Amino acid sequence: MNLSSCAKLNNGVEMPWLGLGVFLSEEGAEVENAVKTALKAFEESLEKLQTDYLDLYLIHWPKGERSVESWKALEELYAAGRVRAIGVSNFLVHHLEDFLPTCKVQPAVNQVEFHPELIQPWLLKYCQQKGIQPEAWSPIMKGRVNDIPVMQELAAKYGKTPVQIVLRWDIQKGVVTIPKSVKAERIISNADIFDFELSTEDMAKIDALDKSQRIGSHPDHISY
Ligand SMILES: NC(=O)c1ccc[n+]([C@@H]2O[C@H](COP(=O)([O-])OP(=O)(O)OC[C@H]3O[C@@H](n4cnc5c(N)ncnc54)[C@H](OP(=O)(O)O)[C@@H]3O)[C@@H](O)[C@H]2O)c1
Repeated sequence: MNLSSCAKLNNGVEMPWLGLGVFLSEEGAEVENAVKTALKAFEESLEKLQTDYLDLYLIHWPKGERSVESWKALEELYAAGRVRAIGVSNFLVHHLEDFLPTCKVQPAVNQVEFHPELIQPWLLKYCQQKGIQPEAWSPIMKGRVNDIPVMQELAAKYGKTPVQIVLRWDIQKGVVTIPKSVKAERIISNADIFDFELSTEDMAKIDALDKSQRIGSHPDHISY
């Protein structure tokens, strides 16, 4: 495995195991219906990125019927070849159970908050069983992973940083990961995770840090 290694999505498209997180925030104007919103958001994204197609397009949060409508728009974009893969974000098992039967195209990816203090193994298993690639957001707990003693111990053992340990743990768990940094030296260091392997026992030590504790909002209590 190396920096170019990819997870194969359920439609055959390949996605790198390690990506770079970048927050692209925007003040979106409210539009009347979800399909229009999704299409408008899509056109804006293409314009901002200066491309005529996207590799992956996700629904950001579960929103019941509104997600179903948005998904139809994403399916149209996918059928038209304007996006190579479509997926969801922040969907828990109960959201997926309601949502999947309404989909003509199954989601290729579910991007969720995932780090040692929030593992949700049942969600990981469910996604993997359904052929949905899990992807981690806030994988390094916004840098706080460096303060966790177990991570520091493992870092010393492997001659790596706690951040590198957690990112390696991600890909060994089959989770695509997108740590964010705007600093060149951190981007380079965060990507240096392909020259070592965590043992099964050390993977379990990280698993044991789970506290079901979120950094971000709970997907059932999102206010927008
Ligand atoms: N789907 C969603 O709802 C959702 C929600 C949140 C995030 N995301 C995505 O996930 C990406 C990553 O999540 P995130 O930005 O919330 O958190 P993160 O990747 O866990 O942490 C990013 C923070 O850690 C710092 N950092 C990076 N490398 C470091 C290192 N080696 N040592 C110490 N600190 C380091 C960064 O600062 P510097 O930039 O100064 O290095 C930044 O403040 C985002 O960019 C976004 O694309 C998605």
